Amino acid sequence: MMNQDEMKQAVAKAALDYVSDKIYSDSIIGIGTGSTANFFIDILTKLKGRFDGTVASSDASAKRLKQHGITVYDLNSTKSLDIYVDGADEANKQLELIKGGGAALTREKIVAATAREFVCIADESKLVDQLGAFPLPVEVIPMARSHVARQLVKLGGDPVFREGVITDNGNIILDVFNFPIDNPIKTEEQINNIVGVVTNGIFAQRPADVLLLGTPTGIKTVTA
Ligand code: 5RP
Repeated sequence: MMNQDEMKQAVAKAALDYVSDKIYSDSIIGIGTGSTANFFIDILTKLKGRFDGTVASSDASAKRLKQHGITVYDLNSTKSLDIYVDGADEANKQLELIKGGGAALTREKIVAATAREFVCIADESKLVDQLGAFPLPVEVIPMARSHVARQLVKLGGDPVFREGVITDNGNIILDVFNFPIDNPIKTEEQINNIVGVVTNGIFAQRPADVLLLGTPTGIKTVTA
């Protein structure tokens, strides 16, 4: 039986095969953040020379890509991205996601927004019927922390300050516990409307286009 790391590795390999069919010599690939994305970065070296470069969704991923000798562009200096590959903390069958376990949600959402295709890679433990068992990450401007927390309580959640974490953008994270999400598109919009919120970890307005899921018996491809 494959363990979770082996499933993540297998799904990263499946993503490489998937991406390999879709890229050209001038392609820019968006790269996500987290342990599954790291497995993808480590094998992306196999495609070196077959694409132009990457845009990274975090300083950590940018560093790892550069260590492998892969070009990393600033998003503002590139054309739109052909494809974006990233993990998730939860995914439902509509391919709506919760992301941000690694605090990179804002840059991830920006990169996802600019990509023609969003390929989500995850092990099967991430597939759920309803989003929200995983505490929802919300990136918040530091001075708005208490205000945003009070508004999140009004929406029915239990926000908890993520101690010791400052995002790449200099902000803080509130994780919202006990917050089952019935209508991801509406809740994404409601939380974004709270003054002081930079981004929340619901990816529903721009869901993934395809989910490659690592299971003990092989890779499952899920489309909405
Ligand atoms: C980071 C993320 C990651 O995609 C998410 O946390 C999944 O991580 P992992 O691949 O390590 O399970 O959203 O902000």
